[in-house]
Amino acid sequence: MLDWASELGEVLIPQEKIRERVKELGREISEVYPDGAPVVVGVLRGASVFHADLIRELHFPLSIDFMAVASYGNATRNSGEVKLIKDLETSVGGADVLLVEDIVDTGLTLSYLLGNIRNRQPRSLRVCSFLSKPARRAIDVTVDFLGFEIPDRFVVGYGLDYQQRYRNLPFVATLKGI
Ligand code: IMP
Ligand code: MG
Repeated sequence: MLDWASELGEVLIPQEKIRERVKELGREISEVYPDGAPVVVGVLRGASVFHADLIRELHFPLSIDFMAVASYGNATRNSGEVKLIKDLETSVGGADVLLVEDIVDTGLTLSYLLGNIRNRQPRSLRVCSFLSKPARRAIDVTVDFLGFEIPDRFVVGYGLDYQQRYRNLPFVATLKGI
């Protein structure tokens, strides 16, 4: 066995809590789209796990799409430069868009994405983020639906990575030494 689990610090959010919260988020979001049919946009790669679970808690018609961005900086800190790597395939002009993120840290990535999507004039644009670190916020961004607030710790799991690893953990944990 690789020395993998031993690199983890503490489990901040266990699998069962995630499952319960995602179900609740599904109910909250369902109240906002009574007519259904939003485009639920996942931000690759971090939000892929959350997006996949969340859409199965939305029991009304919808479509999905993905965007990918690169944020430049070192391994655990964002430099503030954001670049679009993969664009939507759907034209979202006039559509109800729900943007699904893994985590809002400084808010720079989300602010970039919101500006980019807003330019296409969707009918509505809302944000659902799995995690938020409010202590780190540099830009004020509105998150309409939030899974969990966490302290200023670097976390991995449930889609979040450290150097592309740990995304497949079914829980959220800290890493030793970070
Ligand atoms: P922001 O632009 O500073 O809000 O950063 C958002 C992006 O930074 C997220 O989409 C993540 O990819 C990454 N990020 C921020 N904090 C963490 C963390 O604790 N673990 C893993 N990735 C993180
Ligand atoms: Mg991300």
